[in-house]
Amino acid sequence: QSLAQPSSLVGVIDEGTKTIAFSIYTTPDFKEIAAHRVELTAITPQDGWYEQDPLEIMASINVCADEAIKQLSEHGYSASDIATVGITNQRETTIVWDAVTGKPLYNAIVWKDIRTSTTVEQIVAKVQDANHFKQSTGLTIFTYFSVSKIRWLKDNVPEVKRACREKRCKIGTVDSWIIWSLTNGALHITDVTNASRTLLMNIETLSWDPVLLKTFSIHEDMLPEIRSCSEIFGKITSEKSVLRGITLSGILGNQQASLLGQMCVKPGQTKSTYRSGCFLLCNTGDKPVFSRHGLLTTVAYKLGPNAKPIYALEGAVSVAGHTLSWLQHKVRLLSDSNDAEKYAEAVPSSGDVYFVPAFTGLYAPYWRQNARGIIIGLTQFTKKNHIVRAALESICFQTQDILECMHQECGYEINKLHADGKLTTNKLLMQLQADTAGIPVFRSQMQDSVAFGVAMCAAQAEGINLCKFEPEKRYYENVHYDTFLPTTTELERTERYGKWKRAVERSLGWVI
Ligand code: G3P
Repeated sequence: QSLAQPSSLVGVIDEGTKTIAFSIYTTPDFKEIAAHRVELTAITPQDGWYEQDPLEIMASINVCADEAIKQLSEHGYSASDIATVGITNQRETTIVWDAVTGKPLYNAIVWKDIRTSTTVEQIVAKVQDANHFKQSTGLTIFTYFSVSKIRWLKDNVPEVKRACREKRCKIGTVDSWIIWSLTNGALHITDVTNASRTLLMNIETLSWDPVLLKTFSIHEDMLPEIRSCSEIFGKITSEKSVLRGITLSGILGNQQASLLGQMCVKPGQTKSTYRSGCFLLCNTGDKPVFSRHGLLTTVAYKLGPNAKPIYALEGAVSVAGHTLSWLQHKVRLLSDSNDAEKYAEAVPSSGDVYFVPAFTGLYAPYWRQNARGIIIGLTQFTKKNHIVRAALESICFQTQDILECMHQECGYEINKLHADGKLTTNKLLMQLQADTAGIPVFRSQMQDSVAFGVAMCAAQAEGINLCKFEPEKRYYENVHYDTFLPTTTELERTERYGKWKRAVERSLGWVI
């Protein structure tokens, strides 16, 4: 016997780069009452290549949903109490599959994969400016976005070429693949936030842009239909899924989901999510704001087919927490990346060591795929502790690069930063961030802003009506934060940031 009103729960599929989770929330208070998480295998066949198995993604989603639903009975609920499901996902990662068999034609090419460097160079050479499509897409031409991955797949994988010729090829970001699989091929859709990361969607019309489709020779029939983030899309029908029969009503790229989850719903409100990468988004309201160079313009959310789109400026850092994993797994300076705080706080400073982790080139605001990582400033006194501290500082300096760019290029002066993501449990990192930026950092006490963001998005869809999202409401009183205040002087900040910039200069252009 259920203790709650029937069908009052919201399920969330959170398909991240490293892990997949299924969590279940009560409404309207959004308490997470069940969750299960599994790691996703990284397939790295060559240097710079990063793939995942689309079938493993689906199998993991099924395992997570099964396990999370088992936990429901402890709370007096069952699967039938789940009213709806939302999906949030790693963005840009691209999957191609066969419309007839429903099988993937290749592994997912993950956002951080850099195999398309040459393709990107050729495109930039042709149009003569990496920002040629900035005004129409909000994006810089770079390996990060889906379009170069689509081109690579079409040009290099015979099965994809054949399926394209025979009009059997379907393309999508991970949300599209999940929805296609969960609905047995009935729905080939994506939402505006994921579509805004492909370099094929026009940022103003929110449709696939005919000029871009022609430029990259991509037929619109292969692409998903672009929908809003919050509406009833359809029902899960896959017989492999314990969620069969449940409605799907929310889709958001994971960084947009945490912007919403952090309640950054007013222009100027800014969040940064610290995970393996680091993604800083500033809500700019219902008008897209364009940066001349460094920042991306992206759709933050569109909460319903007739709702206005809300935009964000984004600074993406590809390597943040991944630096600590590298210290653990590749150079074995740490036996556990969670020990980083302990080692870093054992020294008062980095001893003037700077670490630029440009492992996949540098993303915002530099967009240089030929940058490579450096550790500079070593002396005979440098200890492991200094290098670990410099690694943490690199995350803060990269964030500072974005804040500077927001100010200089777009006139946005950010006076506080909302932080979330697994890495924010590192208190020293949060303090170093406040000290580097000279602004307070508000660390969310909510375990998972990403999942919460999409749960809210799915729950408020028209026809579901489990919560009412009011953009005008002051949400901050209800959201709890730990605050980290800056302890540095402006002079100290300027001096250290200047040295970071010199280190970055040296990392640029290493690969000719
Ligand atoms: O743009 C890539 C981003 O969506 C990846 O997020 O947290 O899964 O690494 P995450």
